[in-house]
Amino acid sequence: MPYSEPGKTKFQTDLRRHLRSQDICDNLIHLICEIAEASKYVINAVRTGDLGVAGTSNLYGEEQLALDVLSDRIMRKRLIHSGVVCNIASEEMEEIYEVKANADGLYSVAYDPLDGSSLVDVNLAVGTIVSIYSGCDLLQEGRKQIAAMYILYGPRVSMVYSVGNGVHEFTMNHLMEFTLTRENIRMQPSGNIYSPGGLRNKYNDGDENFIRYLEAKGCKLRYSGGFVPDINQVLMKGKGIFMYPALNGSPNGKLRVLFELNPMAFLIENAGGAASTGSAPILDIKPESLDQRAPIYIGCVEDVNKAVEYVNGR
Ligand code: F6P
Ligand code: MN
Repeated sequence: MPYSEPGKTKFQTDLRRHLRSQDICDNLIHLICEIAEASKYVINAVRTGDLGVAGTSNLYGEEQLALDVLSDRIMRKRLIHSGVVCNIASEEMEEIYEVKANADGLYSVAYDPLDGSSLVDVNLAVGTIVSIYSGCDLLQEGRKQIAAMYILYGPRVSMVYSVGNGVHEFTMNHLMEFTLTRENIRMQPSGNIYSPGGLRNKYNDGDENFIRYLEAKGCKLRYSGGFVPDINQVLMKGKGIFMYPALNGSPNGKLRVLFELNPMAFLIENAGGAASTGSAPILDIKPESLDQRAPIYIGCVEDVNKAVEYVNGR
């Protein structure tokens, strides 16, 4: 069913109905719907849960918040009980979780249960990011993802997914159902906003010059510090670039290939945008470990190409 302006919609298309129109198998529909269900419990935790620390740290040495641990548990349980998943990896887990009862399961899932969780106590938007592969191998190029999605917990809760056939946005209604709000979202070739992550005084010359280029071009700074809302802004406006470059002392930047970069690159590419490390497309990286990081430039094709030029000193 085509997208209609809010208020003019006669029939609301829910997530399951939309997935049925995507020419994918019932098991994948089931899995995506289960993840969407899990997000309802995550938003409940975000809205009302304990804001304290959990007293543990994750694989990256970052202090885990009680909300990180709880969101991870919510997602993992749902995936285990979906009956279609064999391997699960999460930004908050040390190693791959094998679902024993489903050793030759149909799908594997990598996810970041609550990206930007340290922003909850200042009441900024956060999100869940999910990447889905066929079979049990999680260390594959992002291009082999069969689906990717994120759920954004902002003033409204929205969900954006792609199974490789366009990118679609759903918004949670008063009954906590996800209904279609934008279908086949497309990126423009060139943007007018930029969202630069990382400490500017650790930028390399190429990135510094690229920022000057963007500002001279008339781009406005639009950065919240949350990867999901920052990407969502670029994608929904269809005009912009997000970057988290290599930094002096952190040659691979900060963001994680499996849990953050691959799913977002899959969505942005499917909307006609691009995502690069500065030397190769994000989706061509062959990950060697769960905790692999990479620099990223993601958004409108012409802006990403320009970033690559600057980073390479051209
Ligand atoms: O987990 C990653 C994250 O919180 C992202 O949401 C965000 O883009 C980035 O880190 C910001 O990192 P920092 O503020 O440490 O530069
Ligand atoms: Mn994260």
